[in-house]
Amino acid sequence: MTMNPQALKLANAQHMLHPMIDPKAVAASPPLIIDSAEGVHVVDVDGKRYLDTVASLWNVNVGHGRPELKAAITAQLDKLAYYSTFQNTSNPPAIELSQRLVHMFAPEKMKKVLFSSGGSDAVETAMKLARQYWQLQGKAQRTKFISLKLGYHGVHFGGASLNGNPLFRTAYEPLMPGCMQVESPYLYRNPWGETDPARLAARCADELDRAIQYQGAETVAAFVAEPVQGAGGVIVPHESYWPALRAVCDKHGVLLISDEVVTGFGRIGSLCGARAFGVAPDMMAMAKGINSGYVPLGATLLNERVAGAFEQPGVPAALMHGYTYSGHALACAAANANLDIVLAEDLPANAARVGALLNARLQELLRYPHVGDVRGLGLMAAAELVQSRQSKAPLMMGTPYVQALVAGAREHGAIVRVQGNRLILSPPLVFTPAHVDETMTILHAAFAQAEASVS
Ligand SMILES: Cc1ncc(COP(=O)(O)O)c(C=O)c1O
Repeated sequence: MTMNPQALKLANAQHMLHPMIDPKAVAASPPLIIDSAEGVHVVDVDGKRYLDTVASLWNVNVGHGRPELKAAITAQLDKLAYYSTFQNTSNPPAIELSQRLVHMFAPEKMKKVLFSSGGSDAVETAMKLARQYWQLQGKAQRTKFISLKLGYHGVHFGGASLNGNPLFRTAYEPLMPGCMQVESPYLYRNPWGETDPARLAARCADELDRAIQYQGAETVAAFVAEPVQGAGGVIVPHESYWPALRAVCDKHGVLLISDEVVTGFGRIGSLCGARAFGVAPDMMAMAKGINSGYVPLGATLLNERVAGAFEQPGVPAALMHGYTYSGHALACAAANANLDIVLAEDLPANAARVGALLNARLQELLRYPHVGDVRGLGLMAAAELVQSRQSKAPLMMGTPYVQALVAGAREHGAIVRVQGNRLILSPPLVFTPAHVDETMTILHAAFAQAEASVS
């Protein structure tokens, strides 16, 4: 650090725009400036240490400061930082990673990988390749996309057009034509007042079926969804939901794209979310946990059906898509080392085990009158904040209650995130039962402060 903490705070306020927040709110309440990190803890520029209950942004799955990743990145840096994978050049870490991913997702019949720089890129790539797939099949009229209300698929125009939350759409409209959203399997709030998760799953799958028929199946390219909706509030579907989605897509020939940016590489207890629900998608968008955020990286995986269309003899199928940093050598070297850790430490199993404990303990939050619902799967969880249990009216970010909650958590030594009216937890997958205890102690202290602020 060459600037002192005071100078950093001033320069941050003067020069830096922060994603996903009004600049005026940043000026009013300056951000935490994180200076160092180790394991599941981070330290700010003033030297205060926090438990990172959100793995930064659902992504630092193996924890901060892992020597194995540092070694892999520096060893790669000594040989080659970067060489493009456009057209007919390549580099060893990217090749090795593509082979690993295809082997890792052989049960889902994945066959080819196109790299990019992050989750939004991976989704954009899936959307463009879906359209090209249909052109190659001689069905160029299949151009539309259906996704879920409250779904989050990143910030590019394609992904933003899929997003099912007006927050991420309104300021950037008009978005892509031919994109529409159907209801998500959101048990706590759904238009039917359905309280049975299996019946809700069936209703939602039926709505997708009717939406495809209404649009005309011959115009629909793909259905895109997250196995468990993350940013939308950790919406965990019934086990019958994904198999039902697959059946509807198959009935109409529509591609099924699983956005695994959050669920990929172990977060819900399986190497991918689709596997957790026993379904093989046609394409998967991956990022975040692929290398735990040490270097930006995204990957779009294509199954045999989709990849095969590009390999038909005599059919021109140039991929006129890709990024300067597709297959970045440092990012891929980091991913290879990261995936070694994911497998050696069986982090999906740890996420399932410690996640079950976390989700059980989080039920304790229902003792606070402003917590309406608590839900989660593996190491992703949410507590929904409400003005009252009866009204279920959301208690939003920016209200004194939520401000006191977030400030209380920080004061007691944890970084937590509130998105809309949901407190989100998505800790590193190396979380232990002791970290769950630490989280709960801090959350109880923070909730007590938040309740006191409105009583
Ligand atoms: C499910 C999902 N898809 C896509 C994205 C976009 O990823 P990125 O922010 O790396 O572009 C995110 C980011 O949180 C996500 O949660």
